[in-house]
Amino acid sequence: MSGATPTQDPGSLRDLDAASEPADGSGGAPRGLSRRGLLALSGGLGLTVGALAGGTAAALSRPSVADGAGLAYPFFGEHQAGITTPAQDRLHFAAFTMRAGATRDDLIELLQDWTYAASRLTQGQDVSPHGAFDGGPYLPPDDTGEAADLGPSGLSITFGFGRTLFVTAEGTDRFGLAAQLPPDFTTLPTMVNDFIQPARSGGDLCIQACANDPQVAVHAIRNLTRIAIGRATLSWSQLGFGRTSSTSTSQQTPRNLFGQKDGTNNLKAEEPERLAEHVWISEGPSWSHGGSYLIARRIAMTIEVWDGLQLTEQDRVLGRAKGSGAPLSGGTEFTAPDFTKAGTDGAPLIDPRSHVARTNPANNGGIAMLRRGYNFVDGNDDQGRLDAGLFFIGFVKAPARFAAVHTNMARDDMFVEYLKTTSSSVFLVPPGVAADGYVGQALFAS
Ligand code: HEM
Repeated sequence: MSGATPTQDPGSLRDLDAASEPADGSGGAPRGLSRRGLLALSGGLGLTVGALAGGTAAALSRPSVADGAGLAYPFFGEHQAGITTPAQDRLHFAAFTMRAGATRDDLIELLQDWTYAASRLTQGQDVSPHGAFDGGPYLPPDDTGEAADLGPSGLSITFGFGRTLFVTAEGTDRFGLAAQLPPDFTTLPTMVNDFIQPARSGGDLCIQACANDPQVAVHAIRNLTRIAIGRATLSWSQLGFGRTSSTSTSQQTPRNLFGQKDGTNNLKAEEPERLAEHVWISEGPSWSHGGSYLIARRIAMTIEVWDGLQLTEQDRVLGRAKGSGAPLSGGTEFTAPDFTKAGTDGAPLIDPRSHVARTNPANNGGIAMLRRGYNFVDGNDDQGRLDAGLFFIGFVKAPARFAAVHTNMARDDMFVEYLKTTSSSVFLVPPGVAADGYVGQALFAS
């Protein structure tokens, strides 16, 4: 995975000499994987750090990768990547549960190890300097190897904290974090057409891996899951393809599985003032400022029913023309919808029960969100209907804002008839990581 020109050299940030530093959470991150992170990668063979040394140069000098695969986004920065980063084409989303009995130090150490590994993976490097092929013939390789020749492929890795990390449903404060729970960190109310499956909802931690190559995204989740062994386990995950939103004006609006242009009126990276107003957390405990709330909802779409609707009805349900994406009140794709404009029959050209009318900021007290979802097809049922839909991901300043728009949508949106939500989660994505720090560091220093 090392053919791309990295935009930074994360390998130099931590090294194996520091791998046994204690995880006290006060200083920066150790400059390498912890002893337990290395043990997890070695299959728990009880190897010493010294036994794993060597091979660094070889691991970092693989052949160059195909054109386009070399795109690398910085891991460190003011905000985590994967929010305003131009939406990549592929998603692997994963939620984790901390092991029973895990301590605060275990959690900190895991976040440090994940930071180190993510800073390498996003630059097209193997998960540790020992790589997939260079750790020695008698050891399981540190890196699983399936992305070895693929380059960073625009990989972003975004970490989030579930509410249960602060306090469990039973009220237990496992990690001494309850006092740091932001008052805004609320759960979502049950919505119309919710058929939530607890086994694929929630979690103590989440990782959103997005890339332009599916194998790069899967490789990231797979290797971060291996590192977590003994501290956290993968509880559920979701693959996605075909971004359903634009998060940058440089991107063409993609289409979702209903064939509609999706992401036209989305918040975009080029609007810093609107992002500050709607996306970045600025209230509650200071450790969370600059972060955002990630809402993830797996929404099954009744594809076969939709496919039988007349085009006029498909357009009426959305409020936009399927072909051009223009609002039914007229103009082109990016013309603002006019909800007051009436047709010759005196009725509004955009039906007040259309999806656009129900979710537009003008009809929701000005609330906007940054949508960053992906299509999914998870096979089919025994009637031959696709288990397909949208893995909705939205970033908001507070979950209550999403709930307000969603409640307005659920109340009367004609779209809801064609949707069924099977998974629902809220995670707090902490702010970006300093070059000598680790994900969520300020939380543990509070
Ligand atoms: C499978 C489910 C969904 C599909 C297929 C879908 C599709 C679309 C499409 C095609 C548009 C118009 C183009 C655009 O401006 O992006 C749109 C707009 C929008 N959707 Fe959805 N959507 C879904 C669920 C949701 C949910 C759950 C929410 C959150 C409450 C939501 C919030 C929005 C918002 C805020 C807009 C922009 C409206 C505007 O400002 O004009 N959508 N959606």
